[in-house]
Amino acid sequence: MSERYCVFGHPIGHSRSPRIHALFAEQCGQAMTYEAIEAPREDFAGAWHTFVAAGGLGANVTVPFKEEAYRVADVLSQRARRAGAVNTLVHGRDGRTYADTTDGVGLVRDLEAHGVTLDDARILVLGAGGAVRGVLDPLLAAGPRSLHIANRTAEKAVSLAADFHLQERGQQQACVKGSGYDALEDAYDVVINGTSASLSGELPPLPETLLAADGVAYDMMYAADPTVFLQWASARGVRTIDGLGMLVEQAAESFFLWRHVRPDTEPVRNMLRREL
Ligand code: ATR
Repeated sequence: MSERYCVFGHPIGHSRSPRIHALFAEQCGQAMTYEAIEAPREDFAGAWHTFVAAGGLGANVTVPFKEEAYRVADVLSQRARRAGAVNTLVHGRDGRTYADTTDGVGLVRDLEAHGVTLDDARILVLGAGGAVRGVLDPLLAAGPRSLHIANRTAEKAVSLAADFHLQERGQQQACVKGSGYDALEDAYDVVINGTSASLSGELPPLPETLLAADGVAYDMMYAADPTVFLQWASARGVRTIDGLGMLVEQAAESFFLWRHVRPDTEPVRNMLRREL
């Protein structure tokens, strides 16, 4: 019998997760189904427990439920605890709900797949919302020289940087700093746009000297056409990468948590690119 998984969101109609997981399941010969479920805004916990009672084994969670999914969990991974939100739930054999966040791992894997070196890099992240909080831990674990978080509301960036600065990071000596856009420096190696400004076609105020000549601009968003941020960066001659690969990589990590099989992401990423 086919085993059940799903993605919860509200709205959920445009999610590409069912397509991605169907491709993974086919590639890996896994007998499973994966559907999109629009959970009621006021009762995410109820939707999860109903799904589990009907035989559901795991779920992805997207906007606006990532924080509520965190609260539903009985057991949180360390990276989920730091992120304060989760995108993956697993119904354990012991009946408990296990939760993890795979967005940050997805981002780092996609950067690696594109040959971007994070070790000793000067990284700038634009934005200080939930999406950014969720990727900081894996970014820091990749060993950058420095990580600067810049946000329209400067206090949010300062407070987010302070949260991560105080975390135990083993041998890691990265300097984590938060500020407004007025305190940006020159020549970052990797600039990651984690704001939702792309959705409204807007761009944070960025200086001409922001990127190093061999720097990389990455947008956690993706669309059929390059986002305004990536257009801005490519007009300045730097390499650009959108977030489609991050979407596929975070899905692959969730798939691994459920099925203990690691799909080959490249053909899936190529297929999705053709379908955009
Ligand atoms: P998400 O879950 O996508 O991170 P969020 O928590 O609402 O959503 O955060 C949105 C982020 O995009 C914030 O960093 C926000 O900046 P503020 O904290 O100052 O609101 C940023 N953002 C949204 N629209 C923006 C714009 N037009 N210019 C610059 N930053 C923008």
